[in-house]
Amino acid sequence: MKSVKIGICGLGTVGSGTFKVLTDNAELLAARSQAELCITHIGARRDNPDCPVGDVAVSRDIFEVARDPEVEILVELIGGTSVAKELVEEAIRAGKHVVTANKALIAEFGNELFTLAEEHNVVIRYEAAVAGGIPIIKALREGLAGNRIQWLAGIINGTGNFILSEMRDKGRDFADVLAEAQALGYAEADPAFDIEGTDAAHKLVILAAIAFGMPLQFSEVFAEGITRLTPQDVAYAEELGYRIKHLGVAKHSAKGVELRVHPTLIPEQQLLANVNGVKNAVLVEGSAVGPTLYYGAGAGAEPTASAVVADIMDLARDLAVGQQPQIAGLGVRCTELQALPIVPMAEVETPWYLRLEAEDKPGVMSQVTRLLSAEGISIEALIQKAPHAGETKVPVVVLTNTAAQGRLDKAVSAIEALDSISTDIMCIRVETLNA
Ligand code: HSE
Repeated sequence: MKSVKIGICGLGTVGSGTFKVLTDNAELLAARSQAELCITHIGARRDNPDCPVGDVAVSRDIFEVARDPEVEILVELIGGTSVAKELVEEAIRAGKHVVTANKALIAEFGNELFTLAEEHNVVIRYEAAVAGGIPIIKALREGLAGNRIQWLAGIINGTGNFILSEMRDKGRDFADVLAEAQALGYAEADPAFDIEGTDAAHKLVILAAIAFGMPLQFSEVFAEGITRLTPQDVAYAEELGYRIKHLGVAKHSAKGVELRVHPTLIPEQQLLANVNGVKNAVLVEGSAVGPTLYYGAGAGAEPTASAVVADIMDLARDLAVGQQPQIAGLGVRCTELQALPIVPMAEVETPWYLRLEAEDKPGVMSQVTRLLSAEGISIEALIQKAPHAGETKVPVVVLTNTAAQGRLDKAVSAIEALDSISTDIMCIRVETLNA
């Protein structure tokens, strides 16, 4: 059996998980890929006491792995975008295939890296970059290759979903759950990426590029985080029959492509509404297949390693029989990607959940409904709650019919200008997720 030589750069959460899966399951992986998967070189700035590497060569300078002529597949698991980019470029120029879990790298620099890889006749695989252990890249790029993808929507940040689930189910405090997500190795090095939507935006733009055959356009993704959500919003949404999830949505229509990440009310009977904890799920609507749903662990050492190892095996299978791995990074070669217009957020239409604080006096509700109606926004449901202890203002929750964000913003500004209304109206989009 041919052996394929692998260099791993980075021995943190995902690196150590990958080392463990490759060594624990070595026989099974060899049988399945018809190649012996040999880790011959590790690049790590420091040892990981939880991951003894035996007699594998270790370099403190990770670039030594890219320069090692024996290494055929370089596995980049250091994260970040500056050193990681240089490392991947050096590996590609040295004729090595690359496996990475680095969504920021692919989302922000994928266009140039895939082009460079094509020029050097090597491939970059990155299954672990999106939705942890769920094989969503392979599903979109290969399993659904016969479809035109119309839209996809997903819970694609495990940390954020873990926080929302714990807040809802156990009434736990936001900061406390975030600290636990960090301790469990779910959160990014900078957890602001998780809670502000940047991590989900990285993943969404990758999914959209594959789904719609377009170049990666990270700067075009609208990203809103979960930090403004309150326990009241979670509870009011439930009263209306919804759950709040942090969703990435990509839709392709005649107007162009919508790329957006934001908290979203989802009808409670939808499967996505019931995806809890660190789990991720992605719903994809294909022209031939209809809706399909992919579910699993979105973060954590071994789930992410599962995806990294699958990529290594795909490459090893080809290398073992002397064949050049071929599948293009985004499903088609870079020159065949089609630039598509991005729909401005002001034109994106959804129903809305609004929560406002109003003086409890006659005429206030009619002023609110009049200002919504002036922008052509009709009301689906309206609930007035009892005032909080010691407060004179009462919370009012409004569910609207579909309205473009531009019109909604105008109506909200006009409502906030009323003396009887507080100036911090909470606006959350609603998605029914029906085809
Ligand atoms: N911080 C990420 C998450 C890790 O919580 O989903 C997996 O990409």
